[in-house]
Amino acid sequence: MSVPRRRFPGARRARVVVGSALPIDVAERLPACDVVAPASGVMAQHALDAAVADADAVICLLQHRIDDAFLARAPHLGVVANNAVGHDNVDVPAASARGVLVANTPEVLTDATADLAFALLLATARRLGEGEALLRQGRWHGFDPAELLGAELSGRRLGLVGFGRIGRAVAARARGFGLRILYAAPHPAPAAVEAELGATRVELPALLASSDFVSLHCALTPATRGLIDAAALARMRPHAILINTARGAVVDEAALAAALHAGQLGGAGLDVFVDEPRVTPALLTAPRTTLLPHIGSATVAARTRMAELCVAAVAGWLEDRRPTNLVNPELWPPAT
Ligand code: DGY
Repeated sequence: MSVPRRRFPGARRARVVVGSALPIDVAERLPACDVVAPASGVMAQHALDAAVADADAVICLLQHRIDDAFLARAPHLGVVANNAVGHDNVDVPAASARGVLVANTPEVLTDATADLAFALLLATARRLGEGEALLRQGRWHGFDPAELLGAELSGRRLGLVGFGRIGRAVAARARGFGLRILYAAPHPAPAAVEAELGATRVELPALLASSDFVSLHCALTPATRGLIDAAALARMRPHAILINTARGAVVDEAALAAALHAGQLGGAGLDVFVDEPRVTPALLTAPRTTLLPHIGSATVAARTRMAELCVAAVAGWLEDRRPTNLVNPELWPPAT
């Protein structure tokens, strides 16, 4: 049964809880609201849980768990603006069942994330981390034609798992490096997009078996959780490099670490982990592995626009204007 969306009753100042410091001044942009936000850093889950009791709106991060118990604590809550494009941390059906809008931050981080996926691909293929460590630790003894040999990109195959905005933006970059592009996705992209990007759709097993580089760009859903498990890794070519800028839980980290240690895989470049900030210890010691602390969208421009989108979603709901970036649009269908 569908419920109507909650509306801000007006006649009082709205209370907006922000789960982290942001690169914009939220209080300045929402002058009619009382804004509760940390001066720096990120609010712990228990602090957010406590703060939400009388909140009308929440701006949260991907590590904040917005489940039914959280929503049950917040009888006035009308909108959750998740400061990320991925929204696997939010129980969207539970929010919809309570009439709470959920918004996210699509598009504004596409280029930043695609750039980082490509940076990871190059860094891992050309062993940049190992080279820098060698030099900084005083272990470099001069040019050596046999040292730190890596993989070239041109003429090789890049397999993209997921072919939405970010996957396509990675494909656009890959073309410039002479890579041939395969993708696996539930639905085919329009023929014009395939033609423009030179991309061919294949089933996942074929993509894994024939790609030299595999980059993950799918959302974390029940269908993609653990998608890259031991069996999937065993399908990959022994020199292949896996890149993950999507969500850690798409990959079975223990299986990946085992494959890297056993030399069954050429390398991995990871920006995301199952249980952030914890990293599976065996990954920390795995060979040919580049590890980053979830910085896919970490550019000034992307993070500023993400924060602006969150504030716009809150302001829209308060002023009874439909936010554009709704994850549960069924609560507020667009005007026809
Ligand atoms: C996202 O938006 O989902 C990223 O993981 C963080 O920006």
